[in-house]
Amino acid sequence: MKNYVLVTGGAGYIGSHTCVALAAAGYTPLILDNLCNSSAKVLDRLATISGAAPRLIEGDVRDRALLDRVFAQEPVQAVIHFAGLKAVGDSVVDPLLYYDNNVNGSLVLAAAMRAAGVRTLIFSSSATVYGEPDESPIPESAPTRPANPYGRSKLMVEECLGDLYRSEPGWRIALLRYFNPVGAHESGLIGEHPQGKPNNLMPFVSQVAVGTRPELVVHGGDYPTPDGTGVRDYVHVMDLAEGHVAALRHALAQPQALLTVNLGTGRGCSVLEVVQAFERASGRPVPRTIGPRRPGDVPAYWGDPAAAAEVLGWQARRTLDQMCADSWRWQSGNPEGY
Ligand code: NAD
Ligand code: WQD
Repeated sequence: MKNYVLVTGGAGYIGSHTCVALAAAGYTPLILDNLCNSSAKVLDRLATISGAAPRLIEGDVRDRALLDRVFAQEPVQAVIHFAGLKAVGDSVVDPLLYYDNNVNGSLVLAAAMRAAGVRTLIFSSSATVYGEPDESPIPESAPTRPANPYGRSKLMVEECLGDLYRSEPGWRIALLRYFNPVGAHESGLIGEHPQGKPNNLMPFVSQVAVGTRPELVVHGGDYPTPDGTGVRDYVHVMDLAEGHVAALRHALAQPQALLTVNLGTGRGCSVLEVVQAFERASGRPVPRTIGPRRPGDVPAYWGDPAAAAEVLGWQARRTLDQMCADSWRWQSGNPEGY
């Protein structure tokens, strides 16, 4: 009998890459996704990469009756919960949508898991919970002060899951705080496919390189950083995916556990370093102009990945050049996405 890892949001960017890593590690992913920000076409690509496509249950993580049916009918040993909305700007415009989808969705899922006796949960949190940090690298013990509803939705879920863990024995919960996930699977068959104008740097840069957009506007060139542009901890999505497998393996080996772990490289890269690495990887120019700072942006931050190494035995190993080369392979091979 199959013993599934239920991957909510598994058709999305990080979820699909994690399905590859799960399959490579001998786990069988079962995807639950409402496809609000993804395409079922990813399944054929996953079949090519992994030899078999994961099953997709098309549905919403807030649908308690559906979750009860899934847990009753399928042998699920653990859940990795990616399903959520992630656009910071949208969360400011429609905070209730974000709290409903991200917070309520997580609570419905956790309640269904408790009812079914499935108590192993890996949750997609974000370094955005730190807000503007006092120092970098940021350890997990740093104060949390998210600056927008999206970030607060992640912190609320972390706190709810912490309370759940303390309320009854046997829960194994990992709260994974990702820094800036970028790149794509090395096959170029799956990758990030933002709808409309990308909010994030790497998909914007790749669309400029492929010719879909004329130029990049660098948001601010006067930050107190070595070249004046913003600095972030970019982490390859396959490293991140493998981090989830490490967290799952660790959690399943514990009688109970509550972990909060950063997933990042521990290194900061500036916008201009990313642009130059992308030009090297693609062999294409990336025209850019320096524009004003983007409201709400933090000048520079990167994570302290020591806990991930100590507790999970995980370290990011792919370089910025690999992140750009893999993004380019995906973007140039799939200029229209899936
Ligand atoms: P994504 O939008 O590509 O993937 C999310 C998936 O969840 C999509 O396939 C979407 O259709 C699905 N989904 C959304 N709401 C749902 C619902 N109510 N029911 C069922 N499915 C639903 O985003 P991603 O970049 O892969 O992010 C995955 C998770 O990681 C999110 O929770 C996000 O907040 C978190 N995260 C992302 C980043 C990032 O920069 N990409 C950084 C930190 C944390
Ligand atoms: C990176 C750098 C920009 C676009 C966001 C969310 C965060 C997390 C990851 C989910 C910054 C600069 C960007 C552009 C630019 N997501 N930039 N021109 O803001 O670090 O984090 O995604 O949890 O919550 O806030 O990522 O990729 O938007 O920006 O100059 O067109 O690139 O100013 O310095 P960010 P990003």
